[in-house]
Amino acid sequence: MKKDFITIHELSRYEFNEILDLTTRMKKNPEKYRSVLKDRILAMIFQKPSLRTRMTFEVGMLQLGGEAIYLAPSDIQMGSRESVRDIGKNLERWVNGIMIRTFGHHIILELAESTRIPVINALTDLLHPCQAMADVFTLLEKKGSLAGLKLAYVGDGNNVAHSLMLAAAKAGMKMAVATPPGYEPKKEIIDWAREDGQGTDFELTITNDPVEAVREADAVYTDVWASMGQEAEKEMRRAIFSPYQVNRELFSRAKPGAYFMHCLPAHRGEEVTDEVIDSPNSIVYDQAENRLHVQKVIMMNLMGKK
Ligand code: CP
Ligand code: NVA
Repeated sequence: MKKDFITIHELSRYEFNEILDLTTRMKKNPEKYRSVLKDRILAMIFQKPSLRTRMTFEVGMLQLGGEAIYLAPSDIQMGSRESVRDIGKNLERWVNGIMIRTFGHHIILELAESTRIPVINALTDLLHPCQAMADVFTLLEKKGSLAGLKLAYVGDGNNVAHSLMLAAAKAGMKMAVATPPGYEPKKEIIDWAREDGQGTDFELTITNDPVEAVREADAVYTDVWASMGQEAEKEMRRAIFSPYQVNRELFSRAKPGAYFMHCLPAHRGEEVTDEVIDSPNSIVYDQAENRLHVQKVIMMNLMGKK
């Protein structure tokens, strides 16, 4: 098994399915896993805000018998007060794992390279793999299996879209991504997804047409139009992305009974309307809950006594 959890692309199909299977088991019987991380400590580095990620990693460590220490952006001032590498070399002397939410993806790669302890990706500008694992786990719970399901993602070709593409590829799902021109997913990630989906039912459509993307979809997913770090582009993006709002009209073009999904936080009235996110088809709080369950498995796999 790999030391770190940085991309879904790096997981073998076996490891990917194993995380989902173990999550099912642990969620059903949490008592059994109460001390698997006893005496283990996770350092949580946040260079961006968070509700779900911070809560689920910290609660997860406590539920597994370990502890977590939160390091706010102003505490360690990664890259200005101290280099990424020196932070990695210090932390390995005190704790058993590092979770990091940061900007450039190169930062997490440098941290993982610099330290002997596991590094978990809790969001970079490029990827959000824990989110996508929780999302496919949520779909698996609802639908019973993943292969052949169609997931439509409408909005910005961002970190969440990227990780969902990689998860869909590993799961043999069909995925359609609709973005405004110029906001498509990165080619590197499209290539990874196509490579990972080989030999499965995986199909990937990249389009600028939201109606085409949601057609026959079992689930429609969206995310904010301006991600953390893009606040200055907020107004410009609002105009560009408005035709990509998931509202009742667009959502009605998906399969009857389709699910609505969002990683949260949502900007209600922008990428999604209240009607859709508050509808009985919305499973956004199940996704948020499942962040806890999949991350407990990821931490147990990486940080448990071997
Ligand atoms: N979905 C998610 O990662 O939420 P936070 O930004 O609140 O952690
Ligand atoms: N794309 C969003 C996801 C937040 C969980 C961001 O990066 O801000």
